[in-house]
Amino acid sequence: MATAVYPGSFDPITCGHLDIIRRAACQFDRVIIAVLNNTSKKPMFSVQERVQLIRKSIADLPNCSAEYFDGLLVDFVHQKQSHTVVKGLRAISDFEYEFQMALLNKKMAPDVETVFMVTNANYSYISSSIVKEIASLGGDFSDLVPAEIYDDVKLKIKEGR
Ligand code: COA
Repeated sequence: MATAVYPGSFDPITCGHLDIIRRAACQFDRVIIAVLNNTSKKPMFSVQERVQLIRKSIADLPNCSAEYFDGLLVDFVHQKQSHTVVKGLRAISDFEYEFQMALLNKKMAPDVETVFMVTNANYSYISSSIVKEIASLGGDFSDLVPAEIYDDVKLKIKEGR
């Protein structure tokens, strides 16, 4: 059974992420969305909240699941008996950083491949930071995040004020 791991911060999940997840779900038997319990970024949503938001967004995708991880990505991938990391590429600007990460991961775990999926052009400009900025300034972000989590993001912004 081919299992892919799709890692990221997902603070919060966006339509761009969901597009990659849906397409990966067609290519692999199982997709695990792995939420990094980051210590370097200061997230708006706790890691548990981010996992819950993803679970709401993927409720119609039976071969997808979400959980969080600490430590090295390649260790998590091995722990899940997977050999594949899926990443989305939005623009050339993503490439250099992604290339570096893919090479480092390959050096640490030669059995793990990184598969890049080109983001749907409709979502190439989205990032989690942009969503948070528009939401906190009262702009319309309804077509940037999955409909299932729109109210949660709104509530979080309200609580933060
Ligand atoms: N659609 C929309 N947004 C996308 C996207 C897509 N398809 N793909 C990436 N993004 C955005 C994210 O929203 C995020 O935006 P933000 O900076 O505004 O929050 C940004 O791109 C960066 O993505 P992010 O998920 O934060 O992380 P990353 O690509 O930098 O990598 C890990 C995260 C988890 C893969 C990486 O840090 C990791 O592997 N960490 C574990 C430790 C480890 O193994 N380190 C060694 C690695 S070589």
